[in-house]
Amino acid sequence: MDLSANSNTNSSNEESELYHAQIHLYKHVYNWVSSMALKAIMELGVADVIHSHGKPLTLSQLATELKLHPSKVGALHRFLRLLTHNGFFAKTKIQEQEEEAYSLTPPSKLLIRSKPTNLSSIVKGALHWSSLDMWHSSEKWFTEDKEQTMYETSSGGQSFWDFLNKETDCIKMFQDAMASDSYMFKLALKECRHVFENLGSIVDVGGGTGGVSKLIHQEFPQLKCTVFDQPEVVANLKGDDGNLNFVGGDMFKSIPSADAVLLKWVLHDWNDELALKILKNSKEAISGRGKEGKVIIIDISIDDTSDDKELTGLKLDYDLVMLTMFNGKEREKKEWDKLIYEAGFSRYTLTPICGFKSLIEAYP
Ligand SMILES: C[S@@+](CC[C@H](N)C(=O)[O-])C[C@H]1O[C@@H](n2cnc3c(N)ncnc32)[C@H](O)[C@@H]1O
Repeated sequence: MDLSANSNTNSSNEESELYHAQIHLYKHVYNWVSSMALKAIMELGVADVIHSHGKPLTLSQLATELKLHPSKVGALHRFLRLLTHNGFFAKTKIQEQEEEAYSLTPPSKLLIRSKPTNLSSIVKGALHWSSLDMWHSSEKWFTEDKEQTMYETSSGGQSFWDFLNKETDCIKMFQDAMASDSYMFKLALKECRHVFENLGSIVDVGGGTGGVSKLIHQEFPQLKCTVFDQPEVVANLKGDDGNLNFVGGDMFKSIPSADAVLLKWVLHDWNDELALKILKNSKEAISGRGKEGKVIIIDISIDDTSDDKELTGLKLDYDLVMLTMFNGKEREKKEWDKLIYEAGFSRYTLTPICGFKSLIEAYP
C-alpha cells in the first residue's frame, strides 16, 4: 500500500480547502467594493445615459456623454467590468463598431431616474456616510453595557431619527429612499386589492411623505386615507382632496381611529417592546370596527426553509441594518406569532409580496 500517495492526497485536499476558504474570506472582505462601485456608477448616471440613447453605448461614447476627464476612461472600463461581472450591465458586439457596447440589464434598469421603478435613492441612502460610519464603532458598542444603538454609540448618543430631523438634506434623502419603493407596492396593490376593498378609512402610520397612501388613494378614491407621521415630517404636506390628508403625531402615544391601520416598513425599526406598543396602539385605533377592523403590516419575514440563499442573505443583511441603526429587527415567523398574539390579536395571515416582503393582516 502506498501511504505516501494517500498523505499527498490529504495534504492537497487540505491545501485546496485552505485556498477556497481564503477566496471566501477575501470575497466577503471586499464585498463593499461592489456596493460602492454601484453607487459611483449610479451617481455618474451611466444607466440614464444608456437609457436615453435607446441603444448600447461603447466605452468611448459613454465617457463622452458622461463628460469624463480623458484620464478616467480606463477607470470607467474597470468599474464597468466589475459591474458587468456582477450582472448590472451586458456587453454586446455592434457590427459596424470595433468596440463592444454596454447595455442595461434588469437590475441596472432600476437605476434609470426618469422611470417610476427608479431605486437610485435606495443606493444613495443605504451607502451614504451617515449609514456607514457607525460600523467603525462596532467593537466599542459590543463591549459597552449601554442600551444604545451602534449608531448612537458612534455619534455621541444622538439617535438616527434625531440626526435626520436636524439635517434637512438627509431627511429628504431618507424619505426619497422610502418613497422609491412605492412602485413595487403599486404592483403588489394590484395583486392584493381585496385587502383594501371593504374599508371605509385607513391610517398609514409612519407613512412618511405619503408615497404609499397616494397609491392607495389612486386605486381606491372612496377610501379615506390618513398619513400619520412625526409632525416635522408632515409639516408642509397637504392632501389633494377630502380623502387624503396628513396628520402629525406620535404613534407611541396614540394613533387616529380608522377601519384599518397600515404599518409599512415601520415595525422593523423597533425592538419587540416598542413594536408591541405600536401594535397595541394600532389595535386601539381600529377598535371602532370591532372584529372587522384590521392591522395591515408590510415587513420582512425571515424564512430560510422556503427562501433561497440570496433572498435569506438579503433579509439577514437588512436585519443587521435595523439592529445597528435603530435597535430594530427583521422577524422570523415565530417572532411575528409572539408579537401579534401578545398585542391581543386573535389571528393573522401572512403572504409574501413585493419580492422580499410579506403582507400580514392581523385581526382583533
Ligand atoms: C422606515 S420609514 C417607513 C415609511 C413608509 N411607511 C414607507 O414604507 O415608505 C418609518 C417612518 O416612521 C416614522 N416615525 C418614526 N417615529 C415615529 C413616531 N413616533 N410617530 C409616527 N411616525 C414615526 C418616520 O418618520 C418614518 O417616516
